[in-house]
Amino acid sequence: MAKKTKPSDETPAQAEPTNGAQVSDQLREPAEVRYADQLAALAQNDKDERPASWRLSPRSVLRYVVGGVTLKADIGGKAMDVPITRKFFGDDGIVERAIVTLASERALLLVGEPGTGKSWLSEHLSAAICGNSTLTIQGTAGTTEEHIKYSWNIARVIAEGPRPENLIPSPTMLAMRSGALLRFEEITRCVPDVQDALVSILSDKAIAIPELPDANMVWAKTGFNIIATANTRDQGVNELSAALKRRFNYVHIPIVGDQKTEIEIVQQRSAELIQRYNLPTRIAPPIIQLLATVFREIRSGKTTDGVSIKKPSTTLSTAEAIGVALDAALSARFFGSGQVTPADIARNLIGSIVKEDKADLEALKEYAVIVAKKRAAKDKSWQEFHDVVLEMVK
Ligand SMILES: Nc1ncnc2c1ncn2[C@@H]1O[C@H](COP(=O)(O)OP(=O)(O)O)[C@@H](O)[C@H]1O
Ligand SMILES: [Mg+2]
Repeated sequence: MAKKTKPSDETPAQAEPTNGAQVSDQLREPAEVRYADQLAALAQNDKDERPASWRLSPRSVLRYVVGGVTLKADIGGKAMDVPITRKFFGDDGIVERAIVTLASERALLLVGEPGTGKSWLSEHLSAAICGNSTLTIQGTAGTTEEHIKYSWNIARVIAEGPRPENLIPSPTMLAMRSGALLRFEEITRCVPDVQDALVSILSDKAIAIPELPDANMVWAKTGFNIIATANTRDQGVNELSAALKRRFNYVHIPIVGDQKTEIEIVQQRSAELIQRYNLPTRIAPPIIQLLATVFREIRSGKTTDGVSIKKPSTTLSTAEAIGVALDAALSARFFGSGQVTPADIARNLIGSIVKEDKADLEALKEYAVIVAKKRAAKDKSWQEFHDVVLEMVK
């Protein structure tokens, strides 16, 4: 009789630490950890005045976000040149206005299409200004006033009554106590009652805790403010109330306007992600160029040579293009030669373009037949792209 195999309930073997190399096993680190060296270098070189509780002056926060300099700094006891990389691509004036708002009495609302980098910008602003981008509330239809203010450890309240140590603070309360920034993602997904809870926080700069006999107010320290984001696609789901609108400065984040910038974003962000996934792959610039061209042309319904084409119903954001680049790199690594080819791009593109609406397949097919085919005569990459798309949509 076959012996029953023992179920293996041992904990899986720990991954061997890589020798000395600093590879974090976290899939993603918050900006303040990932860019700690750049933030330290900026702080060491910062000569400007800082608003109360800020880690950096507004000028250095801007420098952190838009990059473009190399600073001498002492990092962990070693003198180093630290390049400050660009985090957010686009109009620097937008970033400047966002920073000015955060130093003011008003809160900041970043508004735009999905995938335009709103959350990304908000994370970097928080990291640079208060060194903590993790005090975040994700707005949903299920967000309650308790998520925004505080809740109680019920078991302990039953045993001991409401006491300060039985209170569970919200990210808002933690940000208020430490004079930090609260990030409120997708604020317009919250129902109006919940939004109203924010009005009192923004106008009083305090949260009342009526259950506590004493010490029943938490006051915000200087430096406290809110960065919220909202998608224009969600508009009309829950409009911001007039009272809340008045307390926010709106900064509109446009879809990246020019192809050169979009290529830069896709190139840099996909390189960072590829590194994160430890892929021994690089996407060659012409491939990124092809990907960005396809996205731009299909998104706008027009080619660079002025030919009109069908537009799909999905938003083809820059973020989607970055996603396609990463997927293409993964499939090249796992199923290909490691080199990302136009075929890898074509195969991984389809899921971005064709989402709810099957008719969008037609748009992609038309693009291959009309646009890619014409370029294929002069360029092998377009030929390969064309062939794979047609194979997939047939
Ligand atoms: N203008 C931009 N600059 C830098 N990165 C961008 C830009 N637009 C989009 N991205 C990238 O797209 C991805 C998704 O952006 P995200 O902030 O989540 O979009 P949103 O919150 O607007 O929906 C991020 O990885 C981000 O780096
Ligand atoms: Mg977002």
